[in-house]
Amino acid sequence: MKLNALYAGSFDPITNGHLNIIERASVMFDSLTVSVVYNPSKKSLFTVEERMECIKEATAHLDNIKVDSFIGLLADYVNGKGFDAVVRGLRATTDFVSELQMAQMNARLYTGDTETIFLMTDPKFSYISSSLVKEVASFGGDINGLLPDGAYNRLIEKFK
Ligand code: COA
Repeated sequence: MKLNALYAGSFDPITNGHLNIIERASVMFDSLTVSVVYNPSKKSLFTVEERMECIKEATAHLDNIKVDSFIGLLADYVNGKGFDAVVRGLRATTDFVSELQMAQMNARLYTGDTETIFLMTDPKFSYISSSLVKEVASFGGDINGLLPDGAYNRLIEKFK
């Protein structure tokens, strides 16, 4: 049986922390879809298309990655596509509280046997968030090594 997984997020932009989760999850599943959530309540710097482009560039070395986007409830998207698993990264104990809540709510909404799978973030990236990287970049701070090259170049360009 082929296993298809989903890794969803805002990815505004994708960071090396996200990429680390994607690389590790890609060997666990036959196919991994990385999907950008369009969340109207979260102010974003990059368009959904730009975020998808950054993800495609960063994952070009992996042959089982699909890049997509969706609007609305994650569970509706999962039910529509029939994903077997939803991958989430845990950076710190603080992530656990909200992740547990989301996983349990989603479990209630899934119509199939979709499981939420948690991967521990590599400690090298545990302090990174897209917002923090954007904030540092906006003040001209050093963000070298925090983002894949394509996302890095686009972010530097935005704050020129
Ligand atoms: N490395 C680096 N950064 C990471 C990371 C990792 N491994 N994992 C998470 N992050 C960062 C992200 O960049 C993000 O930073 P930001 O807030 O500065 O943008 C932050 O941690 C939170 O990430 P995440 O928890 O993945 O949030 P998200 O907004 O990217 O995505 C969804 C969350 C998509 C899973 C959730 O909002 C969702 O399901 N939305 C759809 C609506 C829905 O179904 N709601 C009901 C849920 S029960």
